[in-house]
Amino acid sequence: MELTQEEKEMLSGKQGKAVGKSMEILTALGEMFGAEKLIDVKSVQIAGVSYHNLEEAGLEFLEKMAKDGKVKVFTTLNPAGMDLEEWKKLGISEDFAEKQLKVIDAFAKMGVKTTCTCTPYLIGNRPAQGDHIAWSESSAVCFANSVVGAYTNREGGPSAIASALTGKTPEFGMHLDENRQAAVEVKVSANIESFTDWGALGHAIGEKAGKKIPLITGIVKENADEDKLKIFSASIATYAGLALYHIGGVTPNETAMPSESVEVTQQDIENSKKFLNDAESVDIVAVGCPHCSMNELKKIAELLEGKKVNKEFWICVSREVANEAKKQGLVEKIEASGAKIARDTCMAVAPLKGRFKGLATNSAKAVFYGRGKNDFKTIFCDLEECVEKAVE
Ligand code: F3S
Repeated sequence: MELTQEEKEMLSGKQGKAVGKSMEILTALGEMFGAEKLIDVKSVQIAGVSYHNLEEAGLEFLEKMAKDGKVKVFTTLNPAGMDLEEWKKLGISEDFAEKQLKVIDAFAKMGVKTTCTCTPYLIGNRPAQGDHIAWSESSAVCFANSVVGAYTNREGGPSAIASALTGKTPEFGMHLDENRQAAVEVKVSANIESFTDWGALGHAIGEKAGKKIPLITGIVKENADEDKLKIFSASIATYAGLALYHIGGVTPNETAMPSESVEVTQQDIENSKKFLNDAESVDIVAVGCPHCSMNELKKIAELLEGKKVNKEFWICVSREVANEAKKQGLVEKIEASGAKIARDTCMAVAPLKGRFKGLATNSAKAVFYGRGKNDFKTIFCDLEECVEKAVE
């Protein structure tokens, strides 16, 4: 890979050990994927923040990087294993909280904005169309590439940190236009309107088109607002492993019409919904996967007004959106019902295994992680029904 003089100096450790280590990571990655050069990135989003996933070895790596590493571009974090302030409310142990706060301290020392969210684009870390960025979390990567029209690979935790400390990423994969073209047309004849329709569509596309970048046709533009594309990005990234999709008349990237096509019918959507439902009863309800927007919080507050929840009910959200909601009186209304606003964290990265058995959620991605990480059975239903489940 061709390096500039400055990049060679960074690699040699002239700008410190953390920058040197970062350049080692980025050049090794670039060589592995055939990149010719490094390019500048405008922002970074780092995943692998929960102590639950990092454990002691991960924490040690971060503390080492924080000794002399400082971020060169705006950088935010993915959800952590707990609400960083009100962790007790979520039943988190003191020991876990102590370790998680050490992780956050290490990031803060590097100059990272320690906002922990998978929807950085809702809280000011929103790229412009055409910007190159280095983001980690799969739904955020998919949203940034597909809905915003930015350019990012799905970074691992270490490569995202390396990009944050250098402002660089190797140019390969999703950074190159030739790799962003649709390979299959997905003709949708089903009615795709509700959140669960969109979640099921992500699963159905994974079943029908595999990992090929789709150009999805047959979608009514008015049914594709950002909240729905947010939940769809999470689902298609999870079930099809995709970092990019195109929707005719909706998303901004240009692509030619592929010669191959598949159809997603109403029956396919029903089959996917059936697959996503396997619980008979629930003892936890969780929404906000990806983290809730203000519009979603407004809707939840409306639905909960005058009601009391009878089960654990988590509403996962970034601290910034929660603060804004607080100013508007929404947090008070939601918490009056007994539901819990889970800031900085989510139902997948918090240590929930063994505490609950049945999850109701409106997110197909939360179903996947609820089953895989926490052994939950799941009920996949729209927000209205999630609230009904919580209060029944
Ligand atoms: Fe975000 Fe956690 Fe879902 S990171 S996308 S809320 S699994």
